[in-house]
Amino acid sequence: MDISRWVFLILIFVSFATIPIFSDSQLSSGELPDIPVKFLDFAKKSEVFDWMVEVRRRIHENPELGYEELETSKLIREELDNMGIQYKYPFANTGIVGFIGSGDPPFVGIRADMDALPMQEMVDWEHKSRNPGKMHACGHDAHIAMLLGAAKILLQHQNILKGTVALVFQPAEEGGGGAKKMIEAGALENVEAIFGLHVHPNFPLGKVSSRPGPFLAGSGFFEAVISGRGGHAAIPQHSIDPILAASNVIVSLQHLVSREADPLDSQVVTVAKFQGGGAFNVIPDSVTIGGTFRAFSKESFLQLRQRIEEVIVGQAAVQRCNATVDFLTNSKPFFPPTVNDKNLHKHFQRVAGDMLGNDHVKDMEPLMGSEDFAFYQEVIPGYFYMLGMQGETNENPASVHSPYFKINEEALPLGAALQASLAITYLLEAQPQVPSSSINGHDEL
Ligand SMILES: *[C@@H]1O[C@H](CO)[C@@H](O)[C@H](O)[C@H]1NC(C)=O
Repeated sequence: MDISRWVFLILIFVSFATIPIFSDSQLSSGELPDIPVKFLDFAKKSEVFDWMVEVRRRIHENPELGYEELETSKLIREELDNMGIQYKYPFANTGIVGFIGSGDPPFVGIRADMDALPMQEMVDWEHKSRNPGKMHACGHDAHIAMLLGAAKILLQHQNILKGTVALVFQPAEEGGGGAKKMIEAGALENVEAIFGLHVHPNFPLGKVSSRPGPFLAGSGFFEAVISGRGGHAAIPQHSIDPILAASNVIVSLQHLVSREADPLDSQVVTVAKFQGGGAFNVIPDSVTIGGTFRAFSKESFLQLRQRIEEVIVGQAAVQRCNATVDFLTNSKPFFPPTVNDKNLHKHFQRVAGDMLGNDHVKDMEPLMGSEDFAFYQEVIPGYFYMLGMQGETNENPASVHSPYFKINEEALPLGAALQASLAITYLLEAQPQVPSSSINGHDEL
């Protein structure tokens, strides 16, 4: 190879290497920090804000339980159609994945959950639940409106969008393991990272919080039937009393955390259900107990699971009863701990800081609650955070899962803009600095 050819190739390489990353859009890398504020301004425009509020209220009026979100799913698809956004449907009965961008890698996901809770709304207002015994008391109506809002923002800024954003609308977050079924149905195909949020009624509007590493606990449920032999309450010697046996089982279960777990490794075992007997003078045949257990690592979780079964069976046997334990994994799959990726935490702090100011981005302590977003994080890096929505005048807001729970709709633009910003800046930063073909070409010389 002669020298002139070398010089020519080196010149080509140098020219590629010096092309600014964002040369074919109006954006330079120095403008990345401006994106979150621009997006928030756009989301606050009355045509965007009013539309999100209207969508959220329509969903709130018609709450549907896990895997039954047919009308909710239809409403979302209609809004995607209105915007001209392509999507795949169905995943896990009612789930949808929309796509914005080139359709090529890299792919990043942003997620909303769609299901309501089996409880009666007690807030009297114009858009109160029209379905008796069902209520959006966990803010999923707002999460959907925010994800649609994020879609509108991204669509408006497609000229700076590199790669593809996957809009993940999932069913059955409330114990049904909708995320797990979405993954099994292929909803994460090509997606390399995912962001999710939850509205937080007791945290100030305009602030967000999260933490790197374990954030929410893994959770499981159990139910046990403790069988004895019923009879006359005044002649106990002819019966085998399952009420006394179940009482001892419950006391023994409380020793798992206090005596067997590392005090620095937070865990919970709660018996929340105790059913048996119906008369003052009859010892019943059997008693049913049930509850939940929580832990922050898979090891601790599996250890609890094993010991819960051993203690129930063993302690029941002490009083001559038999016990069967069911972990209800068909209807309530185990939720893994929600573990936030450390690099995505840095990304979140930067993007949220650019939008809200660094002093509005807080680290928080882990919570014993759980979230099925954790299933995504078992497969790909993911990040879950809390979005404050407590207004200054609202001193004592109802908690999530309360029949008095209310959404502060002022939070809608914040959630929409933050999700859109996290996704678009993730993709911009994931772009190779130099076209890889030119590097390879050079290496091969
Ligand atoms: C427990 O199970 C054994 C074996 O099936 C049975 O013989 C016994 O009667 C059962 N005891 C009670 C209290 O149900």
